[in-house]
Amino acid sequence: MSLILETTRRRTFAIISHPDAGKTTVTEKLLLYGGAIQMAGAVKSRKTDRGATSDWMKMEQERGISVASSVMQFPYKDVMMNLLDTPGHEDFSEDTYRVLTAVDSALMVIDVAKGVEDRTIKLMEVCRLRDTPILTFINKLDREGKEPIELLDEVEDVLKIECAPMTWPIGMGKRFKGIYHLYNDTIRLFAQADGQRASEGELIQGLDNPRLDELIGGMADELRDEIELVRGASHEFDLETFLQGKQTPVFFGSAVNNFGLQELLDGFAMYAPPPKGRETEDRFVKADEDKMTGFVFKIQANMDPAHRDRVAFMRIVSGKYEAGKKLKHVRIGKDVKISKAITFLANKREQAEEAYPGDIIGLHNHGTIKIGDTFTEGEVLKFTGIPNFAPELFRRARLKDPMKMKALQKGLTQLSEEGATQLYRPISNNDLILGAVGVLQFEVVAQRLADEYNVACQFEPVNVATARWVIGDKAEISKFLDKVTDNVAYDAADQLVYIAPTRVNLQLTEERWPNLKFVATREH
Ligand code: G4P
Repeated sequence: MSLILETTRRRTFAIISHPDAGKTTVTEKLLLYGGAIQMAGAVKSRKTDRGATSDWMKMEQERGISVASSVMQFPYKDVMMNLLDTPGHEDFSEDTYRVLTAVDSALMVIDVAKGVEDRTIKLMEVCRLRDTPILTFINKLDREGKEPIELLDEVEDVLKIECAPMTWPIGMGKRFKGIYHLYNDTIRLFAQADGQRASEGELIQGLDNPRLDELIGGMADELRDEIELVRGASHEFDLETFLQGKQTPVFFGSAVNNFGLQELLDGFAMYAPPPKGRETEDRFVKADEDKMTGFVFKIQANMDPAHRDRVAFMRIVSGKYEAGKKLKHVRIGKDVKISKAITFLANKREQAEEAYPGDIIGLHNHGTIKIGDTFTEGEVLKFTGIPNFAPELFRRARLKDPMKMKALQKGLTQLSEEGATQLYRPISNNDLILGAVGVLQFEVVAQRLADEYNVACQFEPVNVATARWVIGDKAEISKFLDKVTDNVAYDAADQLVYIAPTRVNLQLTEERWPNLKFVATREH
C-alpha cells in the first residue's frame, strides 16, 4: 500500500486515567476487538504497575512479557491502531510524559462513580501542552455512579474541555439497559459479557422504534425525554474543535462487559487524527514527507532478560521504514544500518519488515542511543519537545562488594539511559550519586541491579538538595571548573551538572556566575 494510505490509516494513542478506572480492562478489550488477542487477560502488566513496590517487583519478574505490551499494534476495520502504554505509578510520571510526546491522540478513561481524579487532571495537563485531541470513555456503567449530566459538567469544569456526548447511557447500575448513539440513532441493549467474547446486545434502529418499548418498557419514554434534554443542553460534536484539543467526544459503557467499546473504537477510527508531523529545531517535518525521520522517546534496558538487550523506542514521524534501512543517527553524526528493528504486534515482539509514520519501532541499543535522539535519511535535524527533568531526590550508591564497582557503574549507567533516574559522577571524588523523581525508583534500581547485573547495593542519603545542568560558553565553563570543584559532576551523558547541597547554595552560585545558566529541564 502506498505511504500516504498507510500513514492516514494509523491512529497512535495512549490511555490516560487514574489507577483503577479501568485502563487495563479497556486495553484488553480493545485488543480483543482488534483480533490481536484471542482471549482477554493477555495484558500481563495487569495491576502490577500500580500501588505497592512489591507489585512493581512482580512486574519486573514478568518483564519479558509485560514490557512487550508497552506498545501494542492492532488493526481495527480499515485503521491500524498503535496503543502506547503509560506507566501507572505516579513515580513514573516522567516516562508517561515522554510517551505522550509520541502519540497523536489520547483516550481518557473515567470511572462513573469517581468522576475526575487527580492523576487524570495531571495527565490532561500534559496533553494540553501539545493540544492532543482526547476521546473520553466513561466506564463501569453497570455500577451505580454519578448522573451522566453531572459528570460531563464535572469534566468541563475541572478539565476545562467541552464535552460532546456521542453515546448516552440508558440507566445505570442494576437498571443499566444499554446505550443510545446520538449520531447513528441506534440503541444497543446491554448484555452481560459472555466469557471472553465481545458482547453483542441487540441493536435497535431509531429512538422511536416500538421494539424499544417492548424491551425496556417505561424506560423508553424516559430515555426519549432525556435525549431531548441532552441534545439541548450539551455540545454538538465538532471535528475541528476536537482536533484542536478543545472538545472531547464522550462514550459510555462497561469495559469489563465489553460494552460500549465498539462505539468508541468506531469513533476513534473515524475522528482521531492520523499521524501528525513534529517540530524540529529548524523546521516542521510533515508526516507525508518521503524521507524517513523519527525520534526516540523511551529506552528500556534488559527487556528480554535472556538477551540483556536494550531497546530504544522510536516513533516514526515521516517516511517508511524497511528492514535494512540506512539511517543517520544525527547526534553522533553516524550512519547506521537498521536491520533488526522490532515491531510490537499486540503482545508479541516481531521483527519489523516495514513501518510507517505513527508506528513505533524498537531499535537494539548498545548505549549509543539516548532519549530524544533523532534519526533521518541524512538531513541534520533535531526533534524538539522531549524533556528531561532534574530529579529532586538523591542517594549515594553504597556497594556491598567493592569488587563489583565496574558492574555497578555499568548497571547505573544503563538504567539511567531509560530516563527515570540520573547518574552523577562528582569530579572531586568517586561517588556514584543517583537522582530520581520518586522514592520508589531507588528500590526499583536496587532490585534491578541485583537481578540484571548481579550487584548488591544500597542507596544512602547524600547531601544534595537539587541538581541543575550548567550551560554556558566554553571559556566561562572552564573558568567555573577552575574555581568550583565541589558540587560539580557529570551525568551519564557527560553533561556538566551542579549538584547543590542546598537551594540557598544554588542561588548564591547562580548569582556568582551570571554568565552561566543553571537549568532544571533540559531538552534531550
Ligand atoms: P486500571 O488498569 O485503570 O488500574 O484498572 P483495571 O482495568 O485493572 O480495573 C480496575 C478494577 O475495575 C478491576 O477490578 C476491574 O475488573 C474493574 N472494572 C473494569 N471495568 C469495569 C466495568 O466496566 N464494570 C465494573 N463493575 N468493574 C470494572 P478488581 O476487582 O480490582 O480486579 P478484578 O479482580 O476484577 O480483576
